[in-house]
Amino acid sequence: MSAVPSITLNDGNTIPQLGFGVFQIEPEDTAEAVSEAIEVGYRHVDTAEMYGNEREVGQGIRASGIDRDDVFVTSKLDNGLHEPDDARGAFEGTLSDLGFDYVDLFLIHWPLPTLYDGDFVSTWKALEEFHNDGRARSIGVSNFQIEHLERLAAETETVPAVNQIEVHPYLTNDAVREYGQEHGIATEAWSPIAQGAVLEDAVITEIAENIGKTPAQVVLRWHIQRGDIVFPKSVTPSRMRENFQLFDFELEPGDMDEISALDQGAGGRTGPHPETFARVPA
Ligand SMILES: NC(=O)c1ccc[n+]([C@@H]2O[C@H](COP(=O)([O-])OP(=O)(O)OC[C@H]3O[C@@H](n4cnc5c(N)ncnc54)[C@H](OP(=O)(O)O)[C@@H]3O)[C@@H](O)[C@H]2O)c1
Repeated sequence: MSAVPSITLNDGNTIPQLGFGVFQIEPEDTAEAVSEAIEVGYRHVDTAEMYGNEREVGQGIRASGIDRDDVFVTSKLDNGLHEPDDARGAFEGTLSDLGFDYVDLFLIHWPLPTLYDGDFVSTWKALEEFHNDGRARSIGVSNFQIEHLERLAAETETVPAVNQIEVHPYLTNDAVREYGQEHGIATEAWSPIAQGAVLEDAVITEIAENIGKTPAQVVLRWHIQRGDIVFPKSVTPSRMRENFQLFDFELEPGDMDEISALDQGAGGRTGPHPETFARVPA
């Protein structure tokens, strides 16, 4: 099995193209899952303040015995904390919960254009501070639409290193991805297997059978060949291993096209729409 490729971000830092997501892993299960993932070979973990398991992500990394510098750790600012002072406090909380003095990547989790008078620009400027003082080696956004990215470009100094958006065969999200490609913003594809919803699709199961791989491997490989960064979540060790075995085969262009043709546009979205999502923790 060949090594996980790295993607070079617009700030010169590199990120492993395949990582491990921890959304919806209970805090009490997270340290073990993260240690297991590191044992399998993952060197990139994607968490968030909203997931409530940053502390346990840090514990799992320490328990694995790996050097902090050898694992790429991402976290994200929670929705209730967009005011710059709140963001500063929240970022300190993230570092303290993880038990690290820096994160590799820190993101604004949602743009929340209907909250805070639509002002995610001052939130972004707070993230620029964390980047400038070295505590966030890279900074980026999540769930930003093209108009949100255009506002950051017009009103701030730093182009986000990544935009983490929902992408899978039922929502290829190509317009936002293409904006990213044109402006040096790497796309991270969240819910890469649509939380399992794409795995029984006849197009995918047929390709999987033909090439002797599993449906999850086919879909994750499709993302890799499109150039996106992925971090499938699983608490099941056999699936963690399965999802890591993506680099000893390649999909034919025809198979890539057939999977891309499964796109359902907006109807394929499984998560909330970034234009309207406004949930703030109680
Ligand atoms: N920025 C955002 O707004 C946002 C939103 C959603 C997700 N994310 C990030 O993206 C990561 C991945 O997305 P996700 O967790 O929503 O969904 P996902 O990775 O697409 O799917 C996870 C689900 O698929 C199952 N699964 C995993 N591998 C499998 C396999 N090989 N075969 C069959 N089933 C498999 C898992 O079950 P088991 O765990 O039971 O094995 C789990 O139920 C998250 O963990 C998080 O880091 C970000």
